[in-house]
Formats: sequence, structure tokens, C-alpha cells
Amino acid sequence: SHNGKINIAIDGPAGAGKSTIARMVASMLSYVYVDTGAMYRAATWYLQNLGIGPEEVDKVLHSVQNLGIELMPGEDGQKVLVDGQDVTAEIRSLTVSSQVSRYAQIEGLRNWLVSLQRQMALRKGVVMDGRDIGTTVLPDAEVKVFMTATVEERARRRFKEMQDQQGITLEMIARDIAERDRLDQEREVSPLRQAEDAILLDTTHLTPREVAERIVSFSQSYGREN
Ligand code: DC
Repeated sequence: SHNGKINIAIDGPAGAGKSTIARMVASMLSYVYVDTGAMYRAATWYLQNLGIGPEEVDKVLHSVQNLGIELMPGEDGQKVLVDGQDVTAEIRSLTVSSQVSRYAQIEGLRNWLVSLQRQMALRKGVVMDGRDIGTTVLPDAEVKVFMTATVEERARRRFKEMQDQQGITLEMIARDIAERDRLDQEREVSPLRQAEDAILLDTTHLTPREVAERIVSFSQSYGREN
């Protein structure tokens, strides 16, 4: 292994708390956090600005050919850059959220992002969250976690995060989450599902710290056993 470092894959549906937890785990272990959802969001933001819809597959693939998507660790969390432009805030809008699952169904777009994600994990010491990390992106990750929570709890958490966006209601978010669950689970190319060797963690009644500590302890016991 590389300096005793391992890779940790965290998958699960929208709003299960993956990014909060993955960030905490990365900080507790001094690992690098990779938010793959942010990469799909960044691509979506870029394509929407060009007026290219998710059904225009050839145009999508052509326009992302030379696109640079970067994740940069920053003072207050991770910054997302598209061709050098900071789009950290823009990619969290409902305009992006409500369409990202449609763009994420495009096989060629996924292949491109998956290869970027694998490069980021080559040197180990990565906590990566998404939908297909344990199954497709990093099938050899030493620790795999599948996080869930009830739809109501997930909507409530997202609502708290988005309260500064005017005109957004809990019902709108719950609908958006339910629709994304459906699209993410039903898509043909690497759908959202639990890897056979993933640990299932239901976070509905746990605090972020409790969840993060469990994952850190799985990671440490992996280190002792191997
Ligand atoms: O985790 P998130 O809500 O930021 O992800 C946004 C969307 O991106 C999600 O609805 C599905 C897609 N996604 C994906 O298909 N595969 C991933 N590894 C991560 C996200």
C-alpha cells in the first residue's frame, strides 16, 4: 500500500449526507475529499450555459472534449472550477440540481468523468463520494460505505442547506430528491446501487460526527487486518 493509505468509497442517494460525512472523514484522516457529484454538476452547469440539452448527446460529448473541471481544496470547503472559473455556488442551484441526473445518464460523459476520478485516486488517501464509486469508479476501494436515510430526512437536510435560495419549499426539494433517486437508480449505465462488499449505514438517526467516526473506525480496522 501507499504509506498505509487506503481509498474510501461512499455512495448513496441524494441528501444522505455523503458530502458532509466524506469531508469530515477526509479531514479526520488527512485524506483528500473528492466530490464526484460536483463534477457532474459542473458539466451540467457548463452545458446549460451553452444551451445544450441532455438529449443532444453528440453536442454534449463534443463540447466537453476540452473542458477542464477541477476540484480545489479551499479555506471553506472545496472549490469547483470550470475552465478556471469558480462555479462553486452556481452548481448548487435548483436549475442545475433538477437536470443533472439527465446529463449524468450520458455514457460518454460518465466515461470521461470516471477516468478523471480514477486518476485522482491513484495515489490512495482519497475519500470519494457519489453514486457508482464502490461499483464502477473504484471497485478496489479498501473501504466501501453505502449511506441511506429516509426521503423525508434527506429532504429536510437539503432544505436547511438551501434556505437562502428564495422561493424554494421543502416540498419542491422532496420532489426533486425523489425524482433524482428514480433516475439515478433506473439509468442503464452504472446506476445507483450498493456494492456487494459495501457497509450499509442508515444515517436517519445518527449525527454526522457519529457516522464519520464509524467510517474512520472501519478504515483503521482495515489497516490493522491487512
Ligand atoms: O451528489 P450530488 O447530489 O451532488 O450529485 C448530483 C447528481 O450527479 C446526482 O443526481 C447523480 C449524478 N451523479 C452520478 O450520476 N454519479 C456520481 N458518481 C455522482 C453524481
